[in-house]
Amino acid sequence: MILVIGGAGYIGSHLVKELVEKEQVIVLDNFSTGHRYLVDDRTVFVQGDLGNKADLEPIFEKYPIQAVMHFAANSLVGESVVNPLKYYQNNVAATLTLLET
Ligand SMILES: NC(=O)c1ccc[n+]([C@@H]2O[C@H](COP(=O)([O-])OP(=O)(O)OC[C@H]3O[C@@H](n4cnc5c(N)ncnc54)[C@H](O)[C@@H]3O)[C@@H](O)[C@H]2O)c1
Repeated sequence: MILVIGGAGYIGSHLVKELVEKEQVIVLDNFSTGHRYLVDDRTVFVQGDLGNKADLEPIFEKYPIQAVMHFAANSLVGESVVNPLKYYQNNVAATLTLLET
């Protein structure tokens, strides 16, 4: 089973459309920029946050995750200059939480 984080976003949702043809897929997304209608019905969906261990741990406990594909980043250049801490928090710190978990 493959965990796709950010699977309700642009890149993640397109990846999932291909992946579900071959693998069982679980999607984690907090809908900060993603959309419910982009989540493929053939996946298990969990609404939660990459930076929150309380959201991540039950997934790894309940499902036999073989790989994680991480597309849950903020990626607007202008916003990242105006508000760099948001980007360090979500793109760096939250990813460390995932790796720790
Ligand atoms: N869009 C492009 O053309 C493009 C090209 C190359 C690389 N990328 C990279 O792909 C990644 C995704 O980009 P995108 O364009 O799909 O962005 P997007 O905003 O459409 O998708 C990001 C998804 O991650 C979710 N998300 C964000 N933070 C989260 C968190 N803390 N917990 C759970 N979910 C969270 C959002 O709700 C959204 O569904 C980025 O790393 C981006 O740099 C994008």
